[in-house]
Amino acid sequence: MPQKVKKAIFPVAGLGTRFLPATKAIPKEILTLVDQPLIQYSMDEARESGIEEFIFVTSRGKGSLEDYFDRSPTLENHLKKQGKLDLLKLTERATLDSGSIAYVRQHDPLGLGDAVYCAKNLIKDEPFAVILTDDVIVSKKPVMKQMIEAYNTIGGEMVALMNIPTEEISNYGVIEPGEQKGSTVAIKSMIEKPSVAESPSSLAVIGRYILTPKIMTNIAQLSKGTHGEIQLTDAINHEAMMGSNVNGFIFEGHRHDCGSKIGYLKATVSLALTRPDIKNEFKEFLNSIV
Ligand code: G1P
Repeated sequence: MPQKVKKAIFPVAGLGTRFLPATKAIPKEILTLVDQPLIQYSMDEARESGIEEFIFVTSRGKGSLEDYFDRSPTLENHLKKQGKLDLLKLTERATLDSGSIAYVRQHDPLGLGDAVYCAKNLIKDEPFAVILTDDVIVSKKPVMKQMIEAYNTIGGEMVALMNIPTEEISNYGVIEPGEQKGSTVAIKSMIEKPSVAESPSSLAVIGRYILTPKIMTNIAQLSKGTHGEIQLTDAINHEAMMGSNVNGFIFEGHRHDCGSKIGYLKATVSLALTRPDIKNEFKEFLNSIV
């Protein structure tokens, strides 16, 4: 069995330009879906998947992310005194033990590959997960857990996959598929944001990865790729092209693309409609305005 996946990297250094002006002062990852910041959805998924160490790759202006995962004694004492234990529990969900959390800075926005590489010294020689907060995935079993279970059997490098309509394919990393066994597809090659004509399939990479330290070595040797950035896709493609064990995992779940305004709004509405405390009133309201 491969080494246990205990660490996850959360690349959260992005400037969030699609959500300007809001992201001028608030990290994109703190934008809320109903009442929970995007980052909390990723954290919950990681924790429920057995991740024990959380590495955030941040940048200037992301201080509120660190505050979010810190204890808040004034607030906690206030809630305790008032007997609001349910609210206290909610704030505790957003607190991480200091030993399990680390922050490293990406100094320049050089791309996802570069962001992941910033965590190299904390990863050392272990396999690691990468979770992109933009992709919020609602599923019975957390997607990272589905992937770790598959990884424990087959090892290697693994990326989450889903079929994407042709007109949107150029926004993604896209794979050239080999043999498929159940939910697992062997990857022959990968390309970042291909044109429709270049696209080797409709299977796109979604923001969940399980990678080995080999990928860090590959990133160090990369030159700039698509959009002039150091691309994680290129580092994984290097392994695929060498014939290493690189697989895609077609997950079960509904993915919301919270990296785009329309995806974020759809996620807000869908998640609100699953919340017992507000769903009925919200549904009535939606019916009344559309
Ligand atoms: C990143 C990856 C891309 C992947 C996508 C999934 O792109 O580079 O390969 O398909 O996430 O959400 P981004 O959306 O950051 O441009």
